[in-house]
Amino acid sequence: METKCDRSAWLKGPAFPCEVLPANVARPWRLVLLGAPGVGKGTQAELLTQRLGACHLSTGDIFRTAKCLGEDERSPAMTAALEYMRRGDLVPDATVLQLVRERVNCLRCGGGFLLDGFPRTVAQAEALQALLEEQHLALDAVLSFELPIDEIVARLAGRRTCNGCKAVYHVTGLPPKKEGICDQCGGPLVQREDDRPESVRVRMEVYEKSTAPLTDFYRRLGLLVPVAAQPFPEGTLARTLAALQSRDGNGRTPRSLSAQRV
Ligand code: AP5
Repeated sequence: METKCDRSAWLKGPAFPCEVLPANVARPWRLVLLGAPGVGKGTQAELLTQRLGACHLSTGDIFRTAKCLGEDERSPAMTAALEYMRRGDLVPDATVLQLVRERVNCLRCGGGFLLDGFPRTVAQAEALQALLEEQHLALDAVLSFELPIDEIVARLAGRRTCNGCKAVYHVTGLPPKKEGICDQCGGPLVQREDDRPESVRVRMEVYEKSTAPLTDFYRRLGLLVPVAAQPFPEGTLARTLAALQSRDGNGRTPRSLSAQRV
């Protein structure tokens, strides 16, 4: 099964309904993707979306989409959020939670969801638990991607992103066929503003202080699934699918996984 999800509602706001109904999935997966900046969460989310049919929901993508709006189209909170992001700091919880609450319908998507970059603080994780309870939903697992810091820094330094369709490449690990040009849409490949060394340093410090404690939070809830995020994206995907399959051994049939081979 290959699914192409439409993330209109998530990226453009609640007034834009999702135009693609989820594919015929055996069961929806509701997952959180945790891990340091650059560990490969976005890359895995894209691969998992194709395999599981769940929507890839990234708070970072919402902020990057907002960057393309004219200044008069952005709310003051969003303008402030973009400045935090440029520096590598976290956007304040209140702004992030408002954005997520506005898009709560995405959490109810029949195909499930992959939350990438949210939650990022314990306060956000507690708010997500409350939001899911209100919606009578529960997380299936929290995937915690792990990689030594020097490899993460190398991944961020070589990352290039398409200005058009947002596809992600790496100058050596995952190069485009033609240098600087997106294979998928022909758009120009650029380096993200927050991948500059000074922003990366701040992002790593913020991660250690604010986001790393989330692993304990989710371990206590019995949801944490550690996954080694190397050496190649396909290997990480295989380990992730195997880990989900073994978690699903409690009577539920993981047809959406077993029907496919990695
Ligand atoms: P966000 O967009 O969430 O960024 P991030 O968490 O810093 O993660 P990245 O997108 O940088 O990395 P990734 O793990 O997705 O790696 P990727 O797959 O691209 O957030 C950005 C900013 O927004 C934050 O700093 C903050 O300001 C704000 N923000 C967002 N959410 C927020 C929230 N909830 N609260 C507060 N603020 C928030 O991979 C990286 C590179 O490695 C690529 O080049 C890829 O090709 C390569 N690669 C991937 N996997 C592999 C592999 N297995 N082997 C070799 N290379 C690989």
